[in-house]
Amino acid sequence: MTIASPRSVRLTGWGRYAPAQALTNADLERMVDTNDEWIVSRTGIRERRVAAAHETSASMGAVAGLRAIRTAGIDVDDIDLIIVATLSPDYWMPSTASLVKEAIGNTRAAAFDLAAACSGFVYGYATASAYIAAGLATNVLVIGSELLTRFLDYSDRSTCILFGDGAGAVVLSASDEPTSPVGIELTTDPQGAYMIWLPAGGSKAPSSLETITRGQHKIRMEGKETYRFATRTLASTGLAAVGKAGWTQDDVDLIIPHQANIRIIEAVAKGLDLPMDRFFVNVDRYGNTSAASVPIALAEAVNSGRVKQGDKLVFIAFGAGFTSGAVALEWTADPARGLIGEAAVSPDDVTVRQPVDWDSVDPIPPALAEVLARPLPGHLDLSDVAPGEPEHAHPVR
Ligand code: ACO
Repeated sequence: MTIASPRSVRLTGWGRYAPAQALTNADLERMVDTNDEWIVSRTGIRERRVAAAHETSASMGAVAGLRAIRTAGIDVDDIDLIIVATLSPDYWMPSTASLVKEAIGNTRAAAFDLAAACSGFVYGYATASAYIAAGLATNVLVIGSELLTRFLDYSDRSTCILFGDGAGAVVLSASDEPTSPVGIELTTDPQGAYMIWLPAGGSKAPSSLETITRGQHKIRMEGKETYRFATRTLASTGLAAVGKAGWTQDDVDLIIPHQANIRIIEAVAKGLDLPMDRFFVNVDRYGNTSAASVPIALAEAVNSGRVKQGDKLVFIAFGAGFTSGAVALEWTADPARGLIGEAAVSPDDVTVRQPVDWDSVDPIPPALAEVLARPLPGHLDLSDVAPGEPEHAHPVR
């Protein structure tokens, strides 16, 4: 990486990818003791997307990333740093970012993964901004990609209803033109370290028959404590970022919050004394996609006409750790570019290379086998999907 002089930072590209198959509340009713009414009233979630067997965090992230690059109108090799925020990487090593680099055909970027759970995209945004401001990078691809449905316990009704799969991405670019100040706030509260966690598979509890038998490879969560942390922290983190940008909350045009639970978003709106129409919400259609949640929502907000040049936006997220983060920025890009970038990239355009001498296992959790075997949903309401989104996921070779 060459060192250039410090420059200001602009968001120039955005993109998203969501698997085609939907896991509905009715599907979950057949797996655990739950019901649509409970899930909708307690979380706002109606369905979430579930990745097909050929898909991984790298393949989904590569599609979203390539769309963001096409939106930015730059060449793939103009990207000199790739950051993938994920808690569901393809492997422990190599990094998912290095797989994405190859899949999109980039030859020159540095690439690494970032672990901050659902706050990962916001942390990645901050990291990319710092690299550019310091002159260490010129065009950074920041991806949030998650395949959480393979890390859920489908006998635990308090977690398996919440999460879904998908990816979102942005390109941040150095600019010689001055930009208005960007406010960034990041926090970590280790008191929450074991409130959302995945106990086994790390150096503390390496994988073994025992860890598998104990079900320790699935996400565990203390929902109430997490809820309390989120509602306590999100508004203050957002306000701190807004203050650093030199605004008050009344100046904010649109908040793009982490999509974990509609009640959490409503509590943040109350905390900030802002109406709900200043918040972009798509939790009903995706559930919680962790690090992918904010960039998926951003791409949908922009591509559906909710954002115009000069708007003041705030991204806010919270997650395991406990982490939280917010970015307050003025939107400068042409919103119309998003649909061009989305239409320009099909999932067939990316190839995540497979190891040659290794037989993969079937990655699909038994509880999801029936859902993933059924025909792709012709009934799916695609009115939410921007033109150019492929109706069916294509196998990634
Ligand atoms: N269906 C039906 N009943 C359920 C379900 C379900 N899916 N899940 C829990 N219940 C039951 C409970 O067992 C409990 O029953 P009981 O009163 O007989 O004991 C009752 O419903 C109430 O349970 P609560 O946990 O009090 O429900 P709550 O209103 O707190 O909602 C929820 C639970 C949705 C999990 C909420 O606490 C929440 O959203 N927490 C935040 C979670 C979150 O956002 N996590 C992501 C963090 S991001 C990351 O980094 C991964």
